[in-house]
Amino acid sequence: MTHPLRLGIAGLGTVGVGVLRIIRQQAKLLSARTGRDITVSAVSARNKSKDRGVPLSGYAWEDDPVALATRDDVDVFVELMGGSDGPAKAATEAALKAGKDVVTANKALLAMHGQELAELAEANGRVIRYEAAVAGGIPIIKSLTEGLAANEITRVMGVMNGSCNYILTRMQSTGLTYEQVFDEANGLGYLEADPELDVGGIDAGHKLAILSSIAFGTRVDFAGVELEGIGRIQIEDIRQAADMGYRIKLLGVAQMTGRGLEQRMSPCLVPEHSPLGQLEGGTNMVVVEGHAVGQIVLRGAGAGEGPTASAVMGDVCDIARGIRLPVFGQPADTLVAAKPAVSATPAPYYLRMGLDDRPGALAKVTAALGDAGVSIHRMRQYDHENGNAPVLIVTHKTTRADLCSALDKLNALPVVIEPPVALRIESV
Ligand code: NAP
Ligand code: HSE
Repeated sequence: MTHPLRLGIAGLGTVGVGVLRIIRQQAKLLSARTGRDITVSAVSARNKSKDRGVPLSGYAWEDDPVALATRDDVDVFVELMGGSDGPAKAATEAALKAGKDVVTANKALLAMHGQELAELAEANGRVIRYEAAVAGGIPIIKSLTEGLAANEITRVMGVMNGSCNYILTRMQSTGLTYEQVFDEANGLGYLEADPELDVGGIDAGHKLAILSSIAFGTRVDFAGVELEGIGRIQIEDIRQAADMGYRIKLLGVAQMTGRGLEQRMSPCLVPEHSPLGQLEGGTNMVVVEGHAVGQIVLRGAGAGEGPTASAVMGDVCDIARGIRLPVFGQPADTLVAAKPAVSATPAPYYLRMGLDDRPGALAKVTAALGDAGVSIHRMRQYDHENGNAPVLIVTHKTTRADLCSALDKLNALPVVIEPPVALRIESV
């Protein structure tokens, strides 16, 4: 048998402990499948004395992740600390320079520094693997870089933040407000230490930027992701979108258009009976469309100890087997700078507003939409409450510019007493 593959693991939180558990519990299976033993030489975390529920006595301890990454008895540096900069970046760079392969679950690191790290890895003849960084246990990186390698990818989209999907589906099932469910999710420990990473769409935006790079052969461009979180979604929108046959999702969409690379992470309506519409709780879903394969849908746990450690260990197994791929599926110097699309592909929109209960109010709304070139597809008015009539409109496909012009006109109407909420409807 080939010599063992020796790991150095920095970060012993949810994911790091999960990785140690798999290595300890599945040693025989890993060895049988890869043809060599997978061992741990050393570990690192901030607090050496913390009980992590797994024995650490068999591993050397390093306080400094950079020292861990460059140890002679480490073949693969496994970065499970998190953060786009600081120790995660320093130790990853040190590992590559010292001739170690890297496995990481860190989407922030790759979204912010993916190109320079890919170049550094290639300059040193090393690989960086990061399956766990996008959609947890779902093997989307492997699917895009390997299984779908012969496809021109036309669109990648999905729900890639479990916390946001939990909040939105919980609002739907309980009728609780965004603020109530946010507090509940935070109390249950579902949100990142900085919840804005989740509800602000940043975490999911990092993941989308990584997928775009592989799908379209572009340099990772997180700054080019048009980002909007779920903070403005009200329970009325959840209810009324449902009434019109839709569900609201924090949806990431990346597609190459004649106008450039479109990358959007924003709350969107999707048909309730579509696979994305049916996605409940913290589960993730990624949809890929390729010219030859058509549409494929991958669904699974996007977070948690087991699913994330499963993805990390899948990468470790590939390295143990000698499978070596460029970081973003093609050599780093062939990735082109993304030209961000200046405007989004036209789409239908959902509009909700409150109208003053007086004659001609609805006529003024339809006239304002018509003046802006926005055509109405469906419309519904609900019972008046205290002189306020909630009105829902689903438009035909319209450009963002025409939509913005319509919103300006609606906002200027005295009969619109509750300002319009607009949400894009994505065809899925
Ligand atoms: P976590 O539970 O917060 O654990 C982070 C670990 O890193 C802790 O053990 C911490 O040490 C250690 N650490 C932090 N700063 C360090 C430093 N300067 N030096 C040494 N160790 C340091 O995080 P996690 O949930 O396991 O996530 C790890 C990575 O996986 C992140 O990049 C995250 O985005 C990614 N990820 C997580 C999930 C998930 O479900 N949790 C899913 C997908 C991807 P102490 O324990 O001593 O404080
Ligand atoms: N905060 C992330 C989520 C963790 O909710 O999906 C997994 O990346």
